[in-house]
Amino acid sequence: MLTEIDGPVLLVGAGKMGAAMAQGWLRRGLSADRLFIQEPSPSKQAQKMIDDYGLSWGADSASFPTPAIVVLAVKPQMMADVLPDLAGTAGPNTLFMSIAAGQSLQTLAALIGRDQPIVRVMPNTPAAIGQGMSVACANTHVSEKQARQCDGLLSAVGEAAWIDDEAQMDAVTAVSGSGPAYLFALTECLAQAGARQGLDEALAMKLARVTMQGAAALMQASDETPVTLRKNVTSPGGTTQAALEILLDENALPKLMQTTISAATTRSKELSG
Ligand SMILES: NC(=O)c1ccc[n+]([C@@H]2O[C@H](COP(=O)([O-])OP(=O)(O)OC[C@H]3O[C@@H](n4cnc5c(N)ncnc54)[C@H](OP(=O)(O)O)[C@@H]3O)[C@@H](O)[C@H]2O)c1
Repeated sequence: MLTEIDGPVLLVGAGKMGAAMAQGWLRRGLSADRLFIQEPSPSKQAQKMIDDYGLSWGADSASFPTPAIVVLAVKPQMMADVLPDLAGTAGPNTLFMSIAAGQSLQTLAALIGRDQPIVRVMPNTPAAIGQGMSVACANTHVSEKQARQCDGLLSAVGEAAWIDDEAQMDAVTAVSGSGPAYLFALTECLAQAGARQGLDEALAMKLARVTMQGAAALMQASDETPVTLRKNVTSPGGTTQAALEILLDENALPKLMQTTISAATTRSKELSG
């Protein structure tokens, strides 16, 4: 719950993800005088948010009060630049919440240079419209209250889940971090296949796109599982059944998805070093 946040929140990096998250917090009632932005060159969108809400911002954190929470939303390669300075701005109990891909709790702690409460998060891009899926993992210095505060920040831009075993972050990255790209790729392929059947390309793309959007919205609105929703549109002997016999053959989509997720998990492991 954002109401549990009782001290300053410092957002470091108001780029695509950082600005989107900040918008969600402000919309969900985080008081603008609690939010401080460290960003050397705000984008138009970030500057508008800063102006609309009258937020305090600067290229560094020197003039800001000691934060209760620091949200790290810079590129992973920037961490070594920003963390040593932030360690000076923050207190020993300040919670660091990092959304940087591939930066382990141990790496972040080493860059801060002392024992510090740290939560590592893998968000995804639908957070920009408040429909993100974020998965968080805390180190042993994070208190229950800090975990709830962190959960509140993540739940303001979608749904949050927690894992105890940080090693699972690679599989999380493969499924939900990279996941939005799979739906976009499926939409592309569906449109291409429709065009191959003689549909005009623009019409095929419209059919594919609106169908994917509608199906995702239906899944969100319904209490049924995806399996039931699929069965609901599959009449025995009909066209959907003919299609799914190809798609769901064990050597088709199930195998392809396993190979896909395995490749992404392996790559995430490689990038994390
Ligand atoms: N986008 C995604 O799908 C996604 C998904 C999961 C996780 N993430 C993680 O989210 C993080 C941010 O990604 P993004 O896509 O939002 O990147 P981004 O748009 O490049 O945002 C990073 C921002 O940090 C700013 N910055 C650079 N140096 C800084 C400093 N010293 N102090 C404060 N801010 C500084 C950058 O400014 P300049 O542009 O001027 O350098 C930029 O505005 C990354 O670590 C990424 O791994 C992203």
